[in-house]
Amino acid sequence: MAKPIGIFDSGLGGLTVTRAVREALPSEDLVYLGDTARVPYGTRSARTVVRYALGCAERLMSFDIKLLVVACNTVSGVALEALEQKLSIPVIGVISPGASAGVQATRSGRIGILATAGTVASGAYERAIHRENEAIQVFARPAPLFVPLAEEGWVTGEVPSLATERYLQPLVDADVDTIVLGCTHYPLLSETIHDVARDLLGHDVVIVDSAKATASALTSLLETQPAEPSGTGSLRVLVTDLPGQFAAVASRFLGAPLEGFDIKAIDL
Ligand code: DGL
Repeated sequence: MAKPIGIFDSGLGGLTVTRAVREALPSEDLVYLGDTARVPYGTRSARTVVRYALGCAERLMSFDIKLLVVACNTVSGVALEALEQKLSIPVIGVISPGASAGVQATRSGRIGILATAGTVASGAYERAIHRENEAIQVFARPAPLFVPLAEEGWVTGEVPSLATERYLQPLVDADVDTIVLGCTHYPLLSETIHDVARDLLGHDVVIVDSAKATASALTSLLETQPAEPSGTGSLRVLVTDLPGQFAAVASRFLGAPLEGFDIKAIDL
């Protein structure tokens, strides 16, 4: 029988990564865990995020997963090593793939990162970029309001554009030519971020979606693994709380209606 791939996030935002994985690998079976009872992770201490992450991973291991995708940038920034040490299966985070895609895209050698406060404070994107090219200058900036805006589905128009202008100013001052979206939620605002950045910079800018970059890194990783029977493209969704707006928010991130998927509330 095909073993599933486990994917987890602090909440529902990681469904953007799940969406990219489903598009790249349509026959893989997926088990997604969203820690909706304890979201957000982006404002918490590294110690707490590591503890939460180990709990989520342990629960996913009970589904006999063959590989773990850490969809949350904050967890990838502070807990990847702890997860790799604890688990006997391959673990892939979103930061290295996003960082590599940024390095490939930049021409000027100045890359901007938008992420949660936790991810920015971890310095994980800078480290990942400098592992590939030390000469690249990295300008990381937290954009916390993008999380509620994306959840609200408020991704274009006056309010998101105004928030984007404020958040982008330091990246515009640094004259970046590439911006990595280092948070699960930000791909929903990608068009607004692109257009506002281009207008403020006066030249075009490449927007790197770390969800898509992770899906291609996962595809390459699977090619190096021993062949396994292929799955049926199923998706099981586990959440630690079922908030009122669950279905609307989840389908916004997944880019598809939730009908037909197996959705379960669990306790960790
Ligand atoms: N999933 C988080 C991330 O990608 C964003 C939401 C949160 O703060 O938990 O960093």
